[in-house]
Amino acid sequence: MFELQDAFARKFHYLRLSVTDVCNFKCQYCLPDGYRPDGRKSFLTLDEIRRLTRVFAAMGTNKVRITGGEPSLRKDFTAIIETVAATPGIRKVAMTTNGYRMARQVADWRRAGLSAINVSVDSLDPRMFHQITGENRFQEVMAGIDAAFAAGFEQVKVNTVLMRGLNDGELGRFLGWIKDNPIQLRFIELMQTGEMDELFSRHHVRGALIKEQLLRAGWQQKVRAHNDGPAEVFWHPDYVGEIGLIMPYAKDFCASCNRLRVSSLGKLHLCLFGDYGVELRDLLAEDGQHAALQLRLREALADKKATHFLHQGQTGMTPHLASIGG
Ligand code: 5AD
Ligand code: SF4
Repeated sequence: MFELQDAFARKFHYLRLSVTDVCNFKCQYCLPDGYRPDGRKSFLTLDEIRRLTRVFAAMGTNKVRITGGEPSLRKDFTAIIETVAATPGIRKVAMTTNGYRMARQVADWRRAGLSAINVSVDSLDPRMFHQITGENRFQEVMAGIDAAFAAGFEQVKVNTVLMRGLNDGELGRFLGWIKDNPIQLRFIELMQTGEMDELFSRHHVRGALIKEQLLRAGWQQKVRAHNDGPAEVFWHPDYVGEIGLIMPYAKDFCASCNRLRVSSLGKLHLCLFGDYGVELRDLLAEDGQHAALQLRLREALADKKATHFLHQGQTGMTPHLASIGG
């Protein structure tokens, strides 16, 4: 029976599972000073991940996205993919990555059951890429995308955060890139998070502005399917690739929310910008807590709010997206 539904009749077939908050990049909008280790943390184990995925799947989840931090920094990352993919009911296993290990490992990930991949590429200019991410690894990431196609992925999704004064002049170059490549390029509007100071006001570009530019250039918006997430997708007859726009500040953005999040420490987050996480880990240590977990999820969902409070400047408890998996 499908049970992951909230008071606003939104259905949550999609789980975003963070498996670590460690990252080796220093993206200006996320971890500008790099990851600061906190020795006491221990991330969900493979067994905990197996139990967690099983209970979500039993309640109706069919897609899991594995995120971080940078998920591929986990030594057992391939085993995590296998574990999630082997769970009855899970039909799609996706990941979000900075691309750093992709060239070397993407074929293994695919063999383990990975079915979709999102990689962040904030600039097509190697120097700007370095400036934004803090890492001089543009070529490696591009080689990773090539490797994904070579390994059999038919499409790769690319996440790009356009920022005023940095990469916002690259729209044309990005479009040129996807003319002949089966890439869904997803522009994510910069979101304000707890640890950001002036970065947001300095660099925020309104998603609506990008949308206007696309429409003017002949891009057409696809009709949203029933269970599509919040991205608006555009196509163009002359392009193999597609564009996705993710505009968290747009009116009604939250109405199409279709995802739940679990952090790498085992807390359920009903919203990226929520004020609290619901502890699940005490019920993940051993088999046999299936019913108790279901009850806790059901109770938590009844509390999911209609929308975030970003417009009021409330960013919730999330210091940066690495902490909860974006
Ligand atoms: N605003 C918008 N996008 C962000 N990401 C991380 N932090 C932010 C932010 N503050 C994006 C990254 C990555 C995805 C997981 O989330 O670019 O592609
Ligand atoms: Fe790492 Fe992703 Fe955050 Fe960049 S956005 S620092 S790649 S977790």
